[in-house]
Amino acid sequence: MMLSTFWLVMCGLAVSPGVTQSLPPVVVPETGVSVYPFPLSQVTLSNSRWLQNQDRTLSYVKSVNVDRLLYNFRANHKLSTNGAQANGGWDAPDFPFRTHAQGHYLTAWANCYGTLRDETCKQRATYFVAELAKCQANNAAAKFNPGYLSGFPESEFDKVENRTLNNGNVPYYAIHKTMAGLLDAWLIIGDDTARDVLLSMADWVGLRTSKLTTAQMQTMLGTEFGGMNDILASVYQYTSLKKHLTTAQRFDHAAVFDPLAANQDRLNGNHANTQVPKWIGAAREYKVTGTQRYLSIARNAWDFTVTAHSYAIGGNSQAEHFRPPNAIAGYLRNDTAEHCNTYNMLKLTRELWATEPESTKFFDFYERALLNHLLGAQNPADQHGHITYFTPLNPGGKRGIGPAWGGGTWSTDYNSFWCCQGTGVETNTKLMDSIYFYNKNGKELYVNLFTPSVLNWNEREVKITQTTEYPVKDTTTLRVEGSGNWTMRIRIPSWTSNAEIRINGQKEDVKTEAGTYAQLTRSWMFNDTVTVKLPMKLRTIPANDDPNTAAIALGPTILSGNYGSEKLTSVPKLDLNSIRRQEEGKLVFSANAGGKRVELGPFYDAQGFNYNVYWATSGNFPTQS
Ligand SMILES: *[C@@H]1O[C@H](CO)[C@@H](O)[C@H](O)[C@H]1NC(C)=O
Ligand SMILES: *[C@@H]1O[C@H](CO)[C@@H](O)[C@H](O)[C@H]1NC(C)=O
Ligand SMILES: *[C@@H]1O[C@H](CO)[C@@H](O)[C@H](O)[C@H]1NC(C)=O
Ligand SMILES: *[C@@H]1O[C@H](CO)[C@@H](O)[C@H](O)[C@H]1NC(C)=O
Repeated sequence: MMLSTFWLVMCGLAVSPGVTQSLPPVVVPETGVSVYPFPLSQVTLSNSRWLQNQDRTLSYVKSVNVDRLLYNFRANHKLSTNGAQANGGWDAPDFPFRTHAQGHYLTAWANCYGTLRDETCKQRATYFVAELAKCQANNAAAKFNPGYLSGFPESEFDKVENRTLNNGNVPYYAIHKTMAGLLDAWLIIGDDTARDVLLSMADWVGLRTSKLTTAQMQTMLGTEFGGMNDILASVYQYTSLKKHLTTAQRFDHAAVFDPLAANQDRLNGNHANTQVPKWIGAAREYKVTGTQRYLSIARNAWDFTVTAHSYAIGGNSQAEHFRPPNAIAGYLRNDTAEHCNTYNMLKLTRELWATEPESTKFFDFYERALLNHLLGAQNPADQHGHITYFTPLNPGGKRGIGPAWGGGTWSTDYNSFWCCQGTGVETNTKLMDSIYFYNKNGKELYVNLFTPSVLNWNEREVKITQTTEYPVKDTTTLRVEGSGNWTMRIRIPSWTSNAEIRINGQKEDVKTEAGTYAQLTRSWMFNDTVTVKLPMKLRTIPANDDPNTAAIALGPTILSGNYGSEKLTSVPKLDLNSIRRQEEGKLVFSANAGGKRVELGPFYDAQGFNYNVYWATSGNFPTQS
């Protein structure tokens, strides 16, 4: 009832004359979507913790040796490796799914060009794509089918199909990554070669999978295949070539989709990051087909994962696997919260919010996971912004613990190339992509994240400058340069209370209930300044399986204890009543834990020392203003 009233109101608003809202270059219109992100060219980050992360990652992806990244592609497709050195880690010439990471670098270069118009990033992407095209063009000599493109031989696909693959390879997982990078080079940079290489790959996937029976295909889907349904649905969306949708749907994994469609949480024991990309694919398939079942699958998967399988920091999984529903305190280990899973959950969140933009639960989660898990997964002490694979949540855990096969540490320039390094370079070059969105009729602007940034809303000739020290401070300001009648919708997070909005210093009489979007509809004047205050209080986030074990947060920010080099053997006891802010305007607190003083600070800044996130809590917080 509420919803239909909302839509009637929206439909009643006509777009003002002279304002044409440019939609993304979509050929197949999307079902169920009414909000869109701005192109990256219209959003830039301003100086902040977020921009610093971006800068570190850009310094890496702008300096990494591109010929080394091409080594395995060229060697496999029987071209000269140009004297380049081979890489180590998961891109070593004998690593089964070598070349899985490169697609993320392509996306990172595309994002960099998208937001900054940086020519170095563009040149790197277009060179890389041109060299991939040469590899693909040499397939006859390499005895591969037309369109094939990878760093390992095509016979790996014979083996994954005939179920004799036993070297740990996940060949379609790698193919998906390359295709996703090519799509971004095409859409963001406008590189037509990237489109051509991508479409040939899509045809190659179509050819291979068309030869399998449904039963053979479903059996093959038992091997991790990334988001093949996702990328192929996108290829269909941007080309309207139906054959690619047919191929996408061959990757609908019944063993995973059927229980989700029936609203059953059977995630326990599943390799987590194998599943999340399939759910993103389901959301994409819903949008290009309108088939409601896909939307149910994606929504149910999101709900299960967020409510029953995620730690307070927004990450999920232990040893890369889902555990029983609500098992949180029972799994505080040193291999929790794989980075890739959260990267993929954020993609899924963005897909689903676009189908339900009146609900703040999606960006409440997005903020929680991006701020508390992914932002701090990058090492700020490293000029190249290397990242951690897991985010340990055991008492006295420490970031920078990777899998033993990757050296058990932060990623490196040339000897890691783990999945999480790939998702890390991508994450840290798209920190601006989900701050602002616009709605279908171009009359509404959504502010979802409180990140210092500038939006050029070209279609309305409006510039929005967001200035804030959030989450260290509880206020953000949005200065509007431009005019016109439109609505600004601001997410009021579910954790706040008594949120307040002022325009030009005057308190606005608008609803600012937690867990809603505040709605400011007016005839905007040049320099109108919106000030949003989101009061933050200390709160606990109890583990689902143990109400006495909890993480501590101030507003959106998880606070962790700094234990230096001390080792902890059990969850420390924390007296909530002992927590004191050390300095107004800074996120530094002291507390008594286990009879000793411990300093609490933002978990996103907990690198280089042993920390503690979950506590055995007692007492109540001191009275908060
Ligand atoms: C499976 O494919 C591989 C690679 O082409 C081939 O060597 C092998 O003989 C095949 N096995 C079966 C059982 O078909
Ligand atoms: C992680 O914890 C396991 C026990 O749960 C232990 O065997 C292993 O050594 C730890 N790894 C690191 C790097 O601390
Ligand atoms: C904006 O809306 C006001 C009424 O709220 C109206 O008086 C004004 O003409 C409108 N301006 C434009 C440019 O549409
Ligand atoms: C807009 O506001 C800024 C900062 O508050 C100020 O420096 C500037 O002079 C204002 N411009 C106009 C045209 O009012």
